[in-house]
Amino acid sequence: MRFKLFLAISLAAISSTLAQHVFEPALVRKYTESMLSEFHMYTKYAGPAPTALQGGSPQPESTLLAARQAIVSQISDGQIQAAAASSAVASQISDGQIQALASTPVAPVTQGSCDYWMEGITHQGIAAFNPNASNYQVFRNVKDFGARGDGVTDDSNAINRAISSGGRCAPGSCLSTTITPAVVYFPAGVYMVNTSIVDYYYTQMIGNPKCLPTIKAFSTFAARNGTIGLIDGDPYGPDGLLYGSTTIFWRQIRNFIIDMTNIPASSAATGIHWPTAQATSIQNVVFEMNSDNGTQHQGIFIESGSGGFMNDLVFNGGLYGATFGNQQFTMRNMTFNNAVTAINQIWDWGWTYYGITINNCSIGLNMSAGEPDALSVGSMTFFDSTISNTDTFINAGFSRSSLPLAANSIVLENIHLNNVRIAIENGNNATVLEGTPRNSYIAAWAMGHSYTPNGPNNFSGTIPPAPRPAGLIDVSGNYYQRSKPQYEQYSASDFISARDQGATGNGRTDDTTALQQAIYTALAQQKILFVDHGDYLVSSTIYIPPGSRIVGESYSVILSYGSFFNNVDMPKPVVQIGKPGDLGVIEWSDMIVSTQGQQRGAILFEYNINSPTTTPTGVWDVHARIGGFAGSELLLAQCPTTPNTTVTASNLDHECIAAFLTVHITPSAAGIYLENDWVWVADHDVEDEELTQITVYAGRGLLDESTTGPVWLVGTSVEHHVKYEYQFVNTRNVFAGQIQTETAYYQPNPPAPIPFPYVASYYDPQFPQRTVRDGNLTIPAADGWGLRIVDSQTIAIYGAGLYSFFNNYSTTCSDEGSGARCQNRIFSLEGASSYITVYNENTVGTHYMITIDGTDVAYYGDNLNGFIQTIALFKSE
Ligand SMILES: *[C@@H]1O[C@H](CO)[C@@H](O)[C@H](O)[C@H]1NC(C)=O
Ligand SMILES: *[C@@H]1O[C@H](CO)[C@@H](O)[C@H](O)[C@H]1NC(C)=O
Ligand SMILES: *[C@@H]1O[C@H](CO)[C@@H](O)[C@H](O)[C@H]1NC(C)=O
Ligand SMILES: *[C@@H]1O[C@H](CO)[C@@H](O)[C@H](O)[C@H]1NC(C)=O
Ligand SMILES: *[C@@H]1O[C@H](CO)[C@@H](O)[C@H](O)[C@H]1NC(C)=O
Ligand SMILES: *[C@@H]1O[C@H](CO)[C@@H](O)[C@H](O)[C@H]1NC(C)=O
Ligand SMILES: *[C@@H]1O[C@H](CO)[C@@H](O)[C@H](O)[C@H]1NC(C)=O
Ligand SMILES: *[C@@H]1O[C@H](CO)[C@@H](O)[C@H](O)[C@H]1NC(C)=O
Ligand SMILES: *[C@@H]1O[C@H](CO)[C@@H](O)[C@H](O)[C@H]1NC(C)=O
Ligand SMILES: *[C@@H]1O[C@H](CO)[C@@H](O)[C@H](O)[C@H]1NC(C)=O
Repeated sequence: MRFKLFLAISLAAISSTLAQHVFEPALVRKYTESMLSEFHMYTKYAGPAPTALQGGSPQPESTLLAARQAIVSQISDGQIQAAAASSAVASQISDGQIQALASTPVAPVTQGSCDYWMEGITHQGIAAFNPNASNYQVFRNVKDFGARGDGVTDDSNAINRAISSGGRCAPGSCLSTTITPAVVYFPAGVYMVNTSIVDYYYTQMIGNPKCLPTIKAFSTFAARNGTIGLIDGDPYGPDGLLYGSTTIFWRQIRNFIIDMTNIPASSAATGIHWPTAQATSIQNVVFEMNSDNGTQHQGIFIESGSGGFMNDLVFNGGLYGATFGNQQFTMRNMTFNNAVTAINQIWDWGWTYYGITINNCSIGLNMSAGEPDALSVGSMTFFDSTISNTDTFINAGFSRSSLPLAANSIVLENIHLNNVRIAIENGNNATVLEGTPRNSYIAAWAMGHSYTPNGPNNFSGTIPPAPRPAGLIDVSGNYYQRSKPQYEQYSASDFISARDQGATGNGRTDDTTALQQAIYTALAQQKILFVDHGDYLVSSTIYIPPGSRIVGESYSVILSYGSFFNNVDMPKPVVQIGKPGDLGVIEWSDMIVSTQGQQRGAILFEYNINSPTTTPTGVWDVHARIGGFAGSELLLAQCPTTPNTTVTASNLDHECIAAFLTVHITPSAAGIYLENDWVWVADHDVEDEELTQITVYAGRGLLDESTTGPVWLVGTSVEHHVKYEYQFVNTRNVFAGQIQTETAYYQPNPPAPIPFPYVASYYDPQFPQRTVRDGNLTIPAADGWGLRIVDSQTIAIYGAGLYSFFNNYSTTCSDEGSGARCQNRIFSLEGASSYITVYNENTVGTHYMITIDGTDVAYYGDNLNGFIQTIALFKSE
């Protein structure tokens, strides 16, 4: 996140006109403008042109050709289970119970009906740190709140009650909190709505994935009170968005059909309004929009925020399948049919799209937003996709004279075009790259600044694609992808509850033994462990053996505490995902690993497991959260910022040292697929009304030293650690995209050598210089690395946002035009590294964007892109 980017513009005038029939284009435009004025320093984008929302472009004459070739089928869960179980048996597990594990996997019970286990299990999640924990309801079935789902009744109020009841963090009266989590579950049905569903902070809206519930608008649907969309994740109030779009974390929407077809095509209706930040997702949703000539519908509208992830979405119809504007995002496996413009990209710094299918649209991706001298789309990374029966794949805004010079940086790879007239058109309406038949396959094409490894070169054209090691791709050559399992094929009896096994999750009781036992019991019985929402205190390592499948509830928290994890000279894993030598597969989703109080030796995640390349261990929406939340004991009261004191090793608050290393992928680990995992050291107190900043120290971010790979880092981000965010050492075969980092806001007070001593065995970087001078600027030279790669091969990074906004809590160092002087360097490539590719590296506040073996090779001033700096293509020698 970037702290406190709240809207300042008054929208009182707009709000007063909201109670009209549906949301009018002019209002959408005004909202967009007000948001963009907040982001003006990076976007210089005045919002869509007045005409942009008024009428659709003509559709191309199109005869449907064959649809996209069938996507390579995923490995079935049955196979995963078989592999996991047999490897688990083979591995050496000390606990006696594991010996009892049957070697024959239980075949999943195929439920013919709509029965979904999440509906059928006992609901006993608790919000441990809610003052009313014994009464607070985590799981809410909308039918228990009066929703009918009968296709007739207006369910809007009942659904809103299900979301809001229990004194939750309501927009307008609360900016954020972790103590009022909720799962809002929708059984199968058609839920009619006449006004917006307002989605609260820390809410998981989950539909039955076996029989997707439909949320369907009446023709009289009206967004009211500053809301936009059938579902609004962040309504507008008189002073702008009610939750800060860069501080909305930890929430999901999955398994729905959002049906807007009753709403007249002439009304600018929106499916989901989703200004959002890290650790959020929309998964498995179908958007049904009007596709009549002149339609004004859009499936998703995002105008601001600091990141996120989406997957498995289908958009049918609409003026825009979706409108997206946000700092950076990873989106994969999305299909757009019959929209005028499939994706309307209003601004970004970096965006990673892959597995995208676009069919029968006028334009695939319109990224021409902004004035010719102030383009607002920073960069675009787009690969493994198919565009069919569409006039223009990409409508860009760049031209010979456009500004900023590095704006609209583009990297395309592995793109199939069928019946597409123009592949890329520029801001002068000139065809930059013809479509079919000339280019029916784009192996790789890029435009922007390149360093290969030296530069800058300003180029556009065909490039050699990044090497794709066999282990990272599927049989069709696309990067392997696997969505978060929802275990549709299992029944409630295939799950066991951590709470039923004696773990309390109450935030007070030591649950180490009970939770460990629950993990072993689930494995022995070949069941899936359901960790009911709660905070599970652990005082020694929790071991997850191969074969385990674990799923949390609105991010159940494992919270380490005590002396075992407090020895900086003998760091210990909080959660050990396999032991060295373990073979097999683990699936883990929807949880958080955290620390409580001083934990100088805590390693939150230690991956040792060796999983098959074809069926990797998968970890989805499992986040690290260090400090800043109820129960962490690392809040404003304990860990205030001290920008006015020179912080030294002796005077710093050692009680706020909260982790040694957050994610460690060890040499023995292989076959690790991490998706939408946010690794966060808190920069502010989430429970505090003002979201006041705090100072919490965690030594190292994500260290990958898997000797063989493959490792996939899909939509991950790592923020605010001391020495580095991502570090790759002695590793190979990594796919990463989009990665995102932020340097700790307190640095260089103290600088990165403090408070964690250098440890050679962890390949710590060293920081010999405290500052460097460039002309009259003095620039910190001992801030943590965003990305450090040492002695590694074949790492392909599809989009990297490496940000340094602050210098000792002041942002003047990152202001545009002030010399990008928050820190001197951010990306270091060292030693015997080869086949390293980085597409669209975007930096903030950093003087040199690339450093190779201690030599700076890319100066920020050569790659200006508004508030950010962009290098489209980096390749090592
Ligand atoms: C606790 O929750 C119960 C049930 O929702 C409610 O009746 C009661 O007023 C709450 N107490 C407080 C102190 O919020
Ligand atoms: C929906 O709300 C409108 C007022 O905005 C009202 O006229 C209409 O009757 C409502 N429709 C239903 C089905 O409740
Ligand atoms: C709109 O807000 C007003 C005042 O906050 C409230 O009384 C009213 O119930 C809200 N209406 C809807 C439909 O949410
Ligand atoms: C779509 O509507 C526009 C404006 O109303 C009209 O000019 C155009 O002919 C229509 N196109 C088709 C294909 O009906
Ligand atoms: C892509 O999403 C669709 C649903 O929209 C799903 O059926 C399919 O399995 C997904 N593909 C992959 C590779 O996950
Ligand atoms: C293509 O899109 C247009 C406009 O949305 C629609 O009328 C037409 O039916 C679509 N064609 C096919 C084959 O789906
Ligand atoms: C593309 O987007 C820009 C900016 O929103 C808009 O002005 C333009 O009309 C769009 N192009 C088309 C062909 O829709
Ligand atoms: C590009 O084409 C659009 C639509 O045809 C037109 O409105 C616009 O003025 C053109 N832009 C330039 C620079 O020629
Ligand atoms: C630091 O000093 C400035 C200027 O004296 C003051 O405004 C600010 O509140 C101080 N900050 C803290 C955290 O004490
Ligand atoms: C620093 O140098 C720049 C360019 O050399 C100059 O524009 C600026 O005024 C100088 N600032 C100070 C404080 O001397």
